[in-house]
Amino acid sequence: MEQGLAQSRSILADAGNVAVLSGAGISAESGVPTYRGAGGIWEGFSAAELASAEGFARDPAKVWGWHNQRRMQLAAIKFNAGHKALADLEAQVVARGGTFTLATQNIDGLHQAAGSQNVLELHGTILAIRCSTCTDKRHIGFEPVDDEIPRCRECGAYMRPDIVWFGEQLPADVWEAAAKAAYECDVFMTIGTSAVVYPAAGLIEMAAGTGAKTIEVNLQRTAASGLVNISLQGKAGEILPQLVDLT
Ligand code: APR
Repeated sequence: MEQGLAQSRSILADAGNVAVLSGAGISAESGVPTYRGAGGIWEGFSAAELASAEGFARDPAKVWGWHNQRRMQLAAIKFNAGHKALADLEAQVVARGGTFTLATQNIDGLHQAAGSQNVLELHGTILAIRCSTCTDKRHIGFEPVDDEIPRCRECGAYMRPDIVWFGEQLPADVWEAAAKAAYECDVFMTIGTSAVVYPAAGLIEMAAGTGAKTIEVNLQRTAASGLVNISLQGKAGEILPQLVDLT
């Protein structure tokens, strides 16, 4: 582990173009539950019912209410040292003329709250809603919205969370930017993700395939561990600050 930490530190100290894929694990230390494993969201709730267009069509009130409740729970949550370290790393890389892209699967907005600038929300955000039929979209942040499902101001259809549900396509422009960053980076980090949900997990393969140096930070081994150059096991909030020069 010590050797992996030292190697990762030196790789990041002079990395030109850095790309990162983050997942629910980076927000776990802020108190946001992950999706899989013991106590994960999909252990207690049905993804097919609550996170699919079919589920929304079947019972829009239930899906709306569940997301609304999650959004209000997130209102009280703060970013942690892991989010902050990535924002610091971005500032350092950009200051020395490099590029930094943070593709996140998270919908909680915590990377932006910590100061990250170039964030690609692969799975959308819980802080916005969009029309289930047309293209109307609205940022709602943490403003309380009652349990009655809002209607689209343009066409009158139900609004839904601006989240990519199971079986849905990722927003094309966001995905293209993430894929470009993965192909063009010198260093790729995968942090706090089980790396089982595609296409997001495919970014790790893309980066590794072009010869980028790859670093994983996770509590445990994942589907990506065999693919990366360095696998660091531990909490993102403890490991990431050690990788970034904070002087
Ligand atoms: N530090 C680092 N890693 C952690 C921590 C921590 N403090 N806590 C948990 N982890 C790791 C777990 O070991 C696990 O590998 O975070 C990972 C979380 O995995 P998932 O719950 O599967 O979350 P994620 O990979 O983000 O899920 C991908 O699945 O349900 C969909 O759309 C949802 O974006 C989500 C996607």
